[in-house]
Amino acid sequence: MATTNRRNFLRTSIGFSAATVATTALGVNPLNTLVGCSSPTSSGKESAESSGTPLEFTQEPLGYEYNALEPNIDARTMEIHYTKHHTGYISKVNDAIKADKITYSTPEELFANISKLSDTVRNNGGGAWNHSFFWKSLRAPVDGNAPAGALMDAINGSFGSFDQFKEQFAAAGAGRFGSGWAWLVSDQGTLKIGSTPNQDNPLMDDAELKGKPLLGIDVWEHAYYLHYQNRRPEYITNWWNVVNWDFVAEQLDA
Ligand SMILES: [Fe+2]
Repeated sequence: MATTNRRNFLRTSIGFSAATVATTALGVNPLNTLVGCSSPTSSGKESAESSGTPLEFTQEPLGYEYNALEPNIDARTMEIHYTKHHTGYISKVNDAIKADKITYSTPEELFANISKLSDTVRNNGGGAWNHSFFWKSLRAPVDGNAPAGALMDAINGSFGSFDQFKEQFAAAGAGRFGSGWAWLVSDQGTLKIGSTPNQDNPLMDDAELKGKPLLGIDVWEHAYYLHYQNRRPEYITNWWNVVNWDFVAEQLDA
């Protein structure tokens, strides 16, 4: 799996970059490519309905070994998280999309209409998309891990400093009661921090926080409990070491 995964990651990365350029040029939101879903290139619901090809979430290769993030996130947690939790969300949302005869062709359309759909689609669709986004936002630990360039400038401009940003973001994650996510989003070009419950995300039409996701942290207990038990703040502190700031910068530019 190790070699195959690395090979698949390279292929996926190259494919993603090319697809991002292509879809951007065509005016199609590259987030569709990012989450790993099969869908037509239609961006309108009516077109999607006539195409008869509703979106189908897929699980891309993780892109690194399960132990790549240690000691910050342990291998067993990553394996269970990826092969059980994420796989389960994808399977269930695809079943629900078929059962409910949903015809939206992109995750953006699905989430923009999520308030009209079932809790099964909401929870598992969010779980499918959020985790795909999460895996891509992580990488092996880097000493002094921090953003650079325009992203750092934007963070400094919005939050005063990188340390103040981290403090606010960590507080959003630690303060989310129960299960959920903390996010950094761009809302009409303004960077904001907030959190969402369960598997909600900032693309949902009725989300507590709205905007284009740039970075998100999973603060469900399944993301950290094996290693950290109830110490969520410690998990968040160590999670900073494995944030893939290049990915975050790509989201800002997209
Ligand atoms: Fe999770």
